[in-house]
Amino acid sequence: MHKLDNRRITERAQAISPFHVMDILAQAKRLETQGKDIIHMEVGEPDFDSPQPIIEAGIAALKLGRTHYTPPLGLPELREAIAGWYETRYQVKVSANRIIVTPGASGALLLVMGALLEQGKNVLLADPGYPCNRNFARFVEGKAKAVNVDASTNYQLTARHIEQHWDENTAMALVASPSNPTGTVLNDQQLKSLSDAVTLKNGHLVVDEIYHGLTYDGYDAPTVLAVNQDAFVINSFSKYFGMTGWRLGWLVVPDGYEEVMDRLAQNLFLAAPTISQYAALAAFHSETIAILDQRRNTFEQRRNSLLPALQLIGLKVDAPPQGAFYIYADCRQILTDKYPDSMALSKYWLEQAGVAVTPGNDFGHYLAEYHIRFAYTANEQRLIQAIERIKQII
Ligand SMILES: Cc1ncc(COP(=O)(O)O)c(C=O)c1O
Repeated sequence: MHKLDNRRITERAQAISPFHVMDILAQAKRLETQGKDIIHMEVGEPDFDSPQPIIEAGIAALKLGRTHYTPPLGLPELREAIAGWYETRYQVKVSANRIIVTPGASGALLLVMGALLEQGKNVLLADPGYPCNRNFARFVEGKAKAVNVDASTNYQLTARHIEQHWDENTAMALVASPSNPTGTVLNDQQLKSLSDAVTLKNGHLVVDEIYHGLTYDGYDAPTVLAVNQDAFVINSFSKYFGMTGWRLGWLVVPDGYEEVMDRLAQNLFLAAPTISQYAALAAFHSETIAILDQRRNTFEQRRNSLLPALQLIGLKVDAPPQGAFYIYADCRQILTDKYPDSMALSKYWLEQAGVAVTPGNDFGHYLAEYHIRFAYTANEQRLIQAIERIKQII
């Protein structure tokens, strides 16, 4: 393969880190080609295909020749449908012109960072957290200022963190509820006090609500918009709606930001995929929601059986995962000289037990070598089988 000279690549691009789990994935693929059975618990997407009504709406859009650009901010009827979703699901009024349809939550994160993070300024975020955030910040010549979080704050940023870590270069705080990798959720009081703390600093609050819809124990995560209409909200059709491959998400902005987002969207990606936008119109139909809520129940059932099984093999989970499809477990008790950290342990499990998981260092630095993320994106029987296999080798 042609070896690229790093001097010909920008520092910006060199600074973007790959996912460590890619090594695990590549090794998993190699083992699979050798005929080994691998149980995948490293994958951060639902194992279900998109619901049939969405697929049919996509096919119908193609047949009708919906193959041209939409307006940069999205199809007006989809923006209306998303506004309607806030009304029915959360009883929150958001006008459709504040909703911007993007290529995934990833597109929304790019818009937000591009519009709010000045060169050299920083964004406060939690460690552990979603790995791409710091790379987005770097890409727009800003910085991520990571704040170590643990079970004492449910692995979330709090108003106190904002007070302690905000400096003269901080422009914004970014939180995710439910969080990746911990699945922990912010309740409405916590969202309110975070909002107040950020407002006091004259900064922006961005809340990534991509795992909304996937919360358990009868609890629905509140949207920050219920307590603060000036917050920026990231969301997506990827997770609850099961549409990762369609590349479709959205951003809610406060009044006044529509024009700048329009300019950024026009220039950065022109518009989100048209066929996906038409397909997503079916995402809010009651028959689709019934399918999605059924799947949510399945995820909950998986969490309920995986969590105690992990604890039984010596892993510790010190904050109950309330949503998403992840469990972030402390593996300190089962480390040995043979596998002294979570990366080595993940490789050992993959090679010896055929179980693929994500080591903590994909989510930051803080105690990362002692943590592993399990994604319950495989069926329950496979999850149980994975634990059985692990039990035999530790
Ligand atoms: C917290 C979080 N935000 C954003 C994304 C990006 O998702 P997408 O671009 O598929 O909508 C992910 C994907 O895993 C995520 O976990």
